[in-house]
Amino acid sequence: MAEFVKNIEIKVKRYNPESGKVLISTYTVPVYKGMTLLDALLYIKDNVDASLNFRYSCRMGICGSCSVLVNGKPMLACYTQILHLNVDSILIEPLPNIPTIKDLVADVSSFFSKYRYIKPYLIRSTYPQNEILQNPEDQQKYWSYTLCIKCAICYAACPASIDEKFLGPTALSTMYRFNIDSRDEGVKERIKISEDNIWLCTACYSCTLHCPKEINSSHSVTELRRIIVEEGFVPKTVRDVLSNTFLTYNPWGMPSERRTDWIKDLNVKLLKPNEQCENLYFVCCGPAYDTRCHEIARSTAYILNLIRLNYGVLGVNEWCCGDHMLRLGERGLFEFLAEHNVQVFRDHSVKNIITNSPHCLNVFKNEQPYSSLTVNVKHYTQVFAEALKNGLIKSLREINARVTYHDPCFLGKRNNIFEEPREILQSIPGVKLVEMSRNRENSFCCGGGGGRVWTEEAPYERRPSVERIKEALGLNVDIIATACPFCVIMLTDAVKALGLEDKIRVKDVSELLKSSLT
Ligand code: FES
Repeated sequence: MAEFVKNIEIKVKRYNPESGKVLISTYTVPVYKGMTLLDALLYIKDNVDASLNFRYSCRMGICGSCSVLVNGKPMLACYTQILHLNVDSILIEPLPNIPTIKDLVADVSSFFSKYRYIKPYLIRSTYPQNEILQNPEDQQKYWSYTLCIKCAICYAACPASIDEKFLGPTALSTMYRFNIDSRDEGVKERIKISEDNIWLCTACYSCTLHCPKEINSSHSVTELRRIIVEEGFVPKTVRDVLSNTFLTYNPWGMPSERRTDWIKDLNVKLLKPNEQCENLYFVCCGPAYDTRCHEIARSTAYILNLIRLNYGVLGVNEWCCGDHMLRLGERGLFEFLAEHNVQVFRDHSVKNIITNSPHCLNVFKNEQPYSSLTVNVKHYTQVFAEALKNGLIKSLREINARVTYHDPCFLGKRNNIFEEPREILQSIPGVKLVEMSRNRENSFCCGGGGGRVWTEEAPYERRPSVERIKEALGLNVDIIATACPFCVIMLTDAVKALGLEDKIRVKDVSELLKSSLT
């Protein structure tokens, strides 16, 4: 007999197709050691409410049919032990992005229909007469993609999937699995299927983060893009971003001399060639060139001055960090940019780098050749949160506002920085911080990653940024704050598209902190 531990309240969001209504049913479930969410649903059905509907089959993480949303996070009900969730109440909902048939039963036909397009089989002119045996090296490259159980979790978590044109992480990773099989001759044929929609991926990492089989679909999409770029099937919007960056070292194609326009009257040290600099403020192309984002760079520099940090900026010698280029599949361009920046960091004997952008932070910490440098890299929110704790930032003025915080994917999901931006916001007197239901690792992307900030062409109603603003509006907030210049650009654009400039403002955390200091 399993050991009883405690009673837990389980709420289930249920959809009734007859009435078209959604209701929440609440159940108390006696939880024992090792009890899974599926066990709990079966307990409810057998003992409390026989009318509850949900899907399951194998009960061991193989069939993929029991996927649901649990406290905002998609997961397999049979794979998740209740006590491992470490919570006292649980809300179970059907998977989002997918139509619901009844209660927790999702209609996965739209998800499966994507497979029809990708030709998930070997394409060979001579197959099967001259069949070549599977190459063990190939198998090593793609074996993880064969573990997919088609649970639709990645699809439900994917911000790009709100546009039905997008094939979705599973279909694309399956496509990639065939494209890297040396027996396959269908690369070009498959590229044609994805070339007009693969650019919708925002590289947010949700698919990889939530996959119960730990399949790195995000990586496979980047690699597919690399194959597409190599084959030359690149749309004009993407081509422009890549060529701008190659020619001017920034995606906007602006002259290098304009990189310091944001400084104006501020006291900021522009480093001379080879001047030694322990602390480097790496501004990023967004705050440097986008006029809306100049204020982010100015606020950051203002506060760095306030805490008396001895730092410098590179000016024209700062080149794009290359993160978006990497996600767009142009590894060669990324390496070209990175090699320059790495050399410049060495020339200045940089020891610490402070970034505005989570994208710069991400490549500096996690991508070669940057990651082999012995440099301490921090996002500005980490530096400012620490300065607040140490009393270096004080006398904050009141800002009376209801504020919600949007987690940038490259800061949160990819680098686990969730608390520092919230600590800064909570330190401002008068700020009432309220959370959107999709927050932290379950956050919904602004839609700007993976180069989409420059290539966005989707109609407004299918843009992740518009969906995110609508979510924030549901909380009646005055401000949606974030900590990434690209999120600021995307969300500001969405507010304008919805005509809501007088209802909600988009602010970077640095801007809010500076406002409370002046
Ligand atoms: Fe088959 Fe959960 S019931 S994966």
